[in-house]
Amino acid sequence: MHNIYKKLIKKDAVLSVVGLGYVGLPIALEFAKKIKVVGFDIREDRVEMMRRHKDPNRELPDEAFKGCDITFTSNPEDLQQAHFHVVGVPTPIDDHNLPDLRPLIAASKSVGRILKKGDYVVYESTVYPGCTEEDCIPILEAESGLKAGTDFKVGFSPERINPGDKVNTLATITKVVSGSDEDALDNIAKTYELIITAGVHRAPTIQVAEAAKIIENTQRDVNIALMNELSIIFNRMGINTYDVLKAARTKWNFLNFYPGLVGGHCIGVDPYYLVYKAKEYRYHPQVINSGRFVNDSMGFYAAKQLVKKLIAADKNILRTKVLVMGVTFKENVSDIRNSKVSDLISELQSYGVTVEVVDPYADAEEVLKEYGFKLTAQPATDYDAVVVAVNHEPYLSLKEADFKAMLKDNGDGILVDIKGIYRSKINELKYWSL
Ligand SMILES: NC(=O)c1ccc[n+]([C@@H]2O[C@H](COP(=O)([O-])OP(=O)(O)OC[C@H]3O[C@@H](n4cnc5c(N)ncnc54)[C@H](O)[C@@H]3O)[C@@H](O)[C@H]2O)c1
Repeated sequence: MHNIYKKLIKKDAVLSVVGLGYVGLPIALEFAKKIKVVGFDIREDRVEMMRRHKDPNRELPDEAFKGCDITFTSNPEDLQQAHFHVVGVPTPIDDHNLPDLRPLIAASKSVGRILKKGDYVVYESTVYPGCTEEDCIPILEAESGLKAGTDFKVGFSPERINPGDKVNTLATITKVVSGSDEDALDNIAKTYELIITAGVHRAPTIQVAEAAKIIENTQRDVNIALMNELSIIFNRMGINTYDVLKAARTKWNFLNFYPGLVGGHCIGVDPYYLVYKAKEYRYHPQVINSGRFVNDSMGFYAAKQLVKKLIAADKNILRTKVLVMGVTFKENVSDIRNSKVSDLISELQSYGVTVEVVDPYADAEEVLKEYGFKLTAQPATDYDAVVVAVNHEPYLSLKEADFKAMLKDNGDGILVDIKGIYRSKINELKYWSL
């Protein structure tokens, strides 16, 4: 079992990647530049696209598939040929903010059914500390009839890619790796070193690696929540938060965080995994939950501030029309999952405001399916307010005149700048930012 790495590099063994999404596909292609890979996903429509060298998430260019030794399949039996399995399926939360392990359990069953003596299974999905050993290994053992540790080895290596980030990429981010024993750790570390130019960090246990990942995102969430809370306080005081942060940041140890809408499937989700597990140990996290509460309220808060401004501008709310620019969960990505912009939109609509939405990256069909509204192809020229909700690249160069052109009555309207992009560029419009 100790020479799986050697077998992989000689192409005497095959590596499988289970779940080919934002995480799984880049990993699969990167490995497939060096070793033989089988990529498995339950969605045949997505698999079919990948066979045609198309990334269903539109993150990777077609060239990323070139020269890769990879077979794409939606048939779980094809996993049989592989001896080293990397699992990168989603780990979402349910409607009650509790971990939804169904994809992870289903993937573990698929792998367990074809598991052979000497195989390796490495989980990459973000989970709470203990999940791999307490929830996944028992499934692998039950399905295969084999024993972890003696018959097969297990590891955990969290994915740390940052969606839309073209600088910090899979290969250039240090990869944390862990294994069920020394031998496993060594083989897993060497295998990842094949593709990670930044190198690997060998964590002492699987739980440490699981915990490390979950706190990276929890730390971001709590820090952004603090900025959001400060923004609420300074708004009441009539102080611009960005001016305060700019001044405070001149101190060497002031941390570089900004207020904003925290959406997506990572930062707004992962802390709930830790909260869930902490409760099993009879601890009720206060700081983490408070952060979640503040961040989850920001879309509604921003909408209410705009409604107040519209009323102050003597607008009849039921006859106001607002343009929201950007609906994805963050800038320069097409991913709309768990976007807090949808909270902002639904809150405005609940007051009777007519809302139109544009986004150069989002897929109109996906938006309609997920949130129930249509994207507007071309902005009109009769809005009472424009909300720039996401700092997409094409929006950064917009000038005051561009917003005036979208507003009715020769630019007599309000600009809400969630990310504070235009704060030093607006002189005449009524302006508000977080
Ligand atoms: N997206 C990111 O930038 C990012 C970054 C770091 C960590 N993560 C973590 O990585 C994991 C995967 O996230 P993602 O964004 O790639 O998800 P995703 O939704 O983009 O992709 C998941 C893929 O898995 C497939 N799938 C679902 N159930 C399956 C099963 N039982 N068997 C095989 N395939 C299955 C889906 O069809 C989909 O193609 C999550 O735990 C997430 O928290 C994501």
